Amino acid sequence: MTTATIEDLKALDRKYIMHPFSSLQSQPRKDVNVMTSTNGIVLKNADGREFLDAGSGLWCANVGYGRTEIIKAATEQMEKTSFLHSFSNFSNEPLIRLSERLLEIAPDNMERVTYANSGSEANDTQIKLVWRYNNVRGKHEKKKLIARWGGYHGTTLGAGSVNGLSVVHRSFDLPIDRVLHTDAAEYHRRPAGIISEEHFSLYLANKLDKMIETEGSETVAAFIAEPIIGSAGVIPPPAGYFREIAKVLKKHDVLLIADEVITGFGRTGSWFAGPGLEMKPDLITVAKGLTSGYFPMSACLVSDAICEVLYNEKEADGFFGHGFTTSGHPVGAAVALANIDIIDKEGLLENSTRIGSYLLSSLREELDGVEFVSDIRGKGLMIGVEFDAVPEIRRAFSDIASVGGLLSQACLDEGLIVRGGHGRVIAAIAPPLTLTTEQADQIVLCVKRAAPKFAKALRAAQLDRA
Ligand SMILES: Cc1ncc(COP(=O)(O)O)c(C=O)c1O
Repeated sequence: MTTATIEDLKALDRKYIMHPFSSLQSQPRKDVNVMTSTNGIVLKNADGREFLDAGSGLWCANVGYGRTEIIKAATEQMEKTSFLHSFSNFSNEPLIRLSERLLEIAPDNMERVTYANSGSEANDTQIKLVWRYNNVRGKHEKKKLIARWGGYHGTTLGAGSVNGLSVVHRSFDLPIDRVLHTDAAEYHRRPAGIISEEHFSLYLANKLDKMIETEGSETVAAFIAEPIIGSAGVIPPPAGYFREIAKVLKKHDVLLIADEVITGFGRTGSWFAGPGLEMKPDLITVAKGLTSGYFPMSACLVSDAICEVLYNEKEADGFFGHGFTTSGHPVGAAVALANIDIIDKEGLLENSTRIGSYLLSSLREELDGVEFVSDIRGKGLMIGVEFDAVPEIRRAFSDIASVGGLLSQACLDEGLIVRGGHGRVIAAIAPPLTLTTEQADQIVLCVKRAAPKFAKALRAAQLDRA
């Protein structure tokens, strides 16, 4: 690509595209990173620069970029069936096989699957399933949803409402009514007087219990949570959290939706992260790693208990008036099947655990004593390196958004892409599960080189204060 063409493209981008998650004021003045090719863990841009993508795109390229097996599966399927819908009794073989495969790897109580195109759409679908479940049971008042501050569930009306990030609510009149938020389960930012993780879990469960009692359990339908919080900064729950929460939900007949959009498909070393954290959901949402981002596809896994109610609805013959034109797309299903095959055959669940623990300990070793680093945590290949103004007492920077921008830029200058966090300054490291030891070493080196440059930039911008 000639320089003139690149600059033209950038100008056209600034002129025409409203980028998601960007400042509409400053985006048109910013340089544009026009990407041109992807391979393994490497992205290349139009200026010829290569980047190590330690963020797997948006936490999704679980099997890495440019896998020929997936490209072949997509091409072959597209040649056979460029499009088929799955409304009414229309179906297709890849979709049938994918559904069977998903239920094989899912927790035992999952019985059926319905599809969508994004994590947000799938979470909106879950919300509707929960409402319908209670309508069919004659519990028409039981509709409220409880989510957590700091959780991320998407940006559509329903998913954006249960989202716990104010940037998603602000200026969009969200959340819609029927949505409540409870505390984030972040042990490092617990209230004074909490003496252990178990104590904190009990405290949070009691708080949820009181919230449901105050609202009236006859009005509360479901609780939604990521097993490990992703976008807000890689936050694992305190010990015993989901066990204590489950007791409260059971007491009040409230369903649990596990949002495994990031954590599913090996990100934390298993197909799903919930079971290892004593999470026993009624509904599971998957997206991202389902197709490793090669095709927009998401799915809702629905438990036997919910199916039993829904499939016995008498009204209007149980007509399911929900779905999307392209949900259950045969090419997406073929892609997902090829993707799951790769994860399975290449032992990527095991690799995620093995290389994840190597990466975690290398980061801890190499960043020991590095200025502003306050915590390095994670599971499998979902790791967060957190930075605070006063790390010893975990006091945050006053301007988190600007400081986060400097951190991402410092990493980018070293050729490393990391995911940032919302509400805290974090380098979230979630590379493809194919990561090798050499690539892990490269990531650590880049972060180590970026950290002092980030500190220097902070001081220069006078942003180093709490
Ligand atoms: C946990 C979680 N749920 C849902 C979503 C929404 O997915 P999508 O962006 O595909 O709508 C995301 C996206 O980052 C996510 O991290």
